[in-house]
Amino acid sequence: MLAIIGGTGLYQIDGFKSAGFKRVSTPFSEKRVVVELFKHGEQTVAFLPRHGKNHLIPPHKINYRANIWALQMIGADEIIAINAVGGIHPDTGPGNFAIPDQIIDYTHSRAHTFFEKDLEFVTHVDFTQPFSNELRKKLADAFDRANTVRSANKSLLNEGVYGCMQGPRLETAAEINRLQQDGCDVVGMTGMPEAALARELKLGYAMLAWSVNWAAGLGEKNISMSGIETHLEEGRGFVLEILTNLIIEEL
Ligand code: HPA
Repeated sequence: MLAIIGGTGLYQIDGFKSAGFKRVSTPFSEKRVVVELFKHGEQTVAFLPRHGKNHLIPPHKINYRANIWALQMIGADEIIAINAVGGIHPDTGPGNFAIPDQIIDYTHSRAHTFFEKDLEFVTHVDFTQPFSNELRKKLADAFDRANTVRSANKSLLNEGVYGCMQGPRLETAAEINRLQQDGCDVVGMTGMPEAALARELKLGYAMLAWSVNWAAGLGEKNISMSGIETHLEEGRGFVLEILTNLIIEEL
């Protein structure tokens, strides 16, 4: 089953018939994880908004382990993650997209592995290629179709490095300068440890990085929340179109 993890700006998927909610208990939280199910024909897609339905959980407080565990428990084997980002690469200005093929993790103090207790042996998963190329290709095809259907003329960086910062504050200009030197193309706060946890449970994972601002120091003097919100509003329909295409093709 395909699961979609919605990020900032995407708290539901419209256009599909809701098939109710699953409330999943996990070893990582007292609270159950609520996953919504949608139907397309006979097939089911799962949807999980990582910041909660009302966007109250900041990036560093998200229970990534509970979320990924819950998705696996309900039978998900592939995850498409939507992540709002700041653009660093010239093609990733606000309103445009990337499907990264690499990650650098700058986060700290997040529960980031399933392999730490009750181990029979120490486990190191391979993470050389952090994303599923098969899913990345499906996402890129769905993006192209959405661009055509909507005559949207959005640009897609179909590769690139996602730098994951701790947040919730945005970066300093010097931090973005450093990320740029490290080779990062987009910057966000939620890709890790999510992608690594998916790998630990052998779930395919790909990310649609949705640029909603230029990263610090690369655009206007300061980054405004109202500017970010304008881009989230403006791009939501396009993101849903991509997901619709993906779901229809996938199932
Ligand atoms: N930095 C980090 N995370 C983000 C940004 C940013 O500029 N924009 C959206 N998420």
